[in-house]
Amino acid sequence: MEFHSEKQQITVAIDALKTKGLTLGLVPTMGALHEGHLQLVKKAIDDNDKVVVSIFINPTQFDNKEDLENYPRTLENDMNLLKTVSKDKIIVYAPTVDDIYEGKAVSQSFDFDGLEFEMEGRFRDGHFDGVGTIVKRFFDIVKPHNAYFGEKDFQQLQIIKKLVEKLHIPIHVVGCKIHRETSGLAMSSRNTRLKPAYKKAAPFIYKTLTTAKKRFGTKSANNVLKWVEKQFAKHDLLELEYFIIADVKTLKPVKRKSNKKTYRAFIAVYADDIRLIDNIALN
Ligand code: PAJ
Repeated sequence: MEFHSEKQQITVAIDALKTKGLTLGLVPTMGALHEGHLQLVKKAIDDNDKVVVSIFINPTQFDNKEDLENYPRTLENDMNLLKTVSKDKIIVYAPTVDDIYEGKAVSQSFDFDGLEFEMEGRFRDGHFDGVGTIVKRFFDIVKPHNAYFGEKDFQQLQIIKKLVEKLHIPIHVVGCKIHRETSGLAMSSRNTRLKPAYKKAAPFIYKTLTTAKKRFGTKSANNVLKWVEKQFAKHDLLELEYFIIADVKTLKPVKRKSNKKTYRAFIAVYADDIRLIDNIALN
């Protein structure tokens, strides 16, 4: 499998593919790959001649130094997993911080029409400026036709769509469904850090989301909100950070339900010191 760690090398490789007229997909990741990431890679392989999978733990999107330091680094295992998907269609790009940031690991500041101030933006200072900065860099270097992002990070997906729209970047952004463990827990690189009792408790998050979805059919958003808060108040191990029902376009919390709008429920929960997020389509 082709592997590059330097911008100059990957640029040469990509120019060669472009000259041949091949279509190119990009799957940006921070590594510690799991089946959720592989679903994105498989979709990208179905849609494109070649797929660049970037593996880079982006320091500028972490507001918590400890979280950045503890983030799993498993490049060898990631490469092996990718080989099980395809040996000849995937190009791995795993740059160093200095190479990709040219010695200055700082975020650019973006205006995502307010999407960046909701939910994760409220609880993770500067997070989406960091995400926007690194994704734009990968877009500039790889220049893919299609780029793949998971609905697991639905706010991030909407923000990348906004980035592409506002900066007129000619890339098609493809959203992919959330991949779950059989317990219902959304797959995440952070799940491996859950202590056994918390791992056992964590499927409660998705279970609560699915019941919230059912309740949303007949009850007001406020009623569902209060119900979810009560479920977590009673829970011994899981601590609710936020539960929000929002309009998918603006990501603003719903005030009064409208049949013309599409809603999703978003949740962030602490399981010990591990922060887990999930979401579900409501209508
Ligand atoms: P990371 O958390 O590694 O996720 C990479 C991509 O995989 C994201 O688009 C994410 O939404 C998707 N993904 C993760 N778990 C998933 C699951 N269970 N089902 C479906 N998709 C899933 O998100 C990032 O990295 C970074 O912010 C990045 C975009 C790479 C920028 O640094």
